[in-house]
Amino acid sequence: MNEQTHESTATTGFRERYGPAALVTGASSGIGRAFAVELAARGLALLLVARRTERLHALAAELGQAHGVSVQVCGADLAAPAAVEQIVTAAAGLDIGLLVSNAGFGLKGAHQDNDPARMAAMLQVNCAAPLQLTHRLLPGLRQRGRGGIIITSSVEGLMGIPYSAAYAASKAFTNSLGESLWGELSTEGLDVLALCPGSTDTEAHALQGIDTATLEGMMSPRDVVLEALANLRNGPVHIAGEQNRALFAALAGMPRREALLQMAANIRAALLPGEMQQ
Ligand SMILES: NC(=O)c1ccc[n+]([C@@H]2O[C@H](COP(=O)([O-])OP(=O)(O)OC[C@H]3O[C@@H](n4cnc5c(N)ncnc54)[C@H](OP(=O)(O)O)[C@@H]3O)[C@@H](O)[C@H]2O)c1
Repeated sequence: MNEQTHESTATTGFRERYGPAALVTGASSGIGRAFAVELAARGLALLLVARRTERLHALAAELGQAHGVSVQVCGADLAAPAAVEQIVTAAAGLDIGLLVSNAGFGLKGAHQDNDPARMAAMLQVNCAAPLQLTHRLLPGLRQRGRGGIIITSSVEGLMGIPYSAAYAASKAFTNSLGESLWGELSTEGLDVLALCPGSTDTEAHALQGIDTATLEGMMSPRDVVLEALANLRNGPVHIAGEQNRALFAALAGMPRREALLQMAANIRAALLPGEMQQ
């Protein structure tokens, strides 16, 4: 079999299992955008969700032209509890075989300094939205008996992370959600993956006031997504990147108190250098 035939067989297999349509939240940027690009390249129709609809429309036009797939757009603010219903309504006419619940954001800094309203919005976007979206889409997925769910979590969900307390806790929630659903659904032909990226080159860092020049070993969103799709059948949890897998294996092997204190000191030095000098 030549490479092209092999590639198209793999694409057809992917589309048969997870198509004809995928729903991707947070598709206007970063990892979600990369999911949209890679899924369109595999022939899936898409429903793209985010607040910045002008970006989604531009991406829809680009992917439609490049891959001949139908791409629909749903503008929704996932911090609003009613957004999930709005998305489910937009998805009504589509046979969704793959849910990529990816939208999310982080907050960094000393826990006491975080704005309570931002933390509440973060829990709504990072935790409540995937909880409710999976709940609403599962009947259709189970009826099909094939398909998948990817929840973009984070390596920060693997253990407590000093100076990222609320975000790390939100991602512990999504890791647990992914593992639980994997246990419920993997015998029913449904693949569930809690995807744990480490530092990835997206707009997320600037939104948190982090200078990306201070970050080492960032992965590209595309590489994160290619790993996720290649490991969709290897759930429940996948850590993206060899370096991240090695780092978190080493941290998990340390006494937890020691690991947390070491991380706190490292993060203080990187994010709050003034404090270290005091
Ligand atoms: N970058 C990293 O280092 C990293 C590491 C681990 C995990 N992650 C996770 O990866 C996922 C994607 O983040 P990213 O790094 O790709 O960041 P990003 O480039 O900032 O993209 C975030 C996406 O989420 C959407 N979003 C945020 N708040 C939303 C809201 N209230 N309603 C609807 N959509 C919302 C954004 O769309 P709009 O702004 O247009 O609404 C955007 O499409 C997140 O769950 C994040 O926690 C990222």
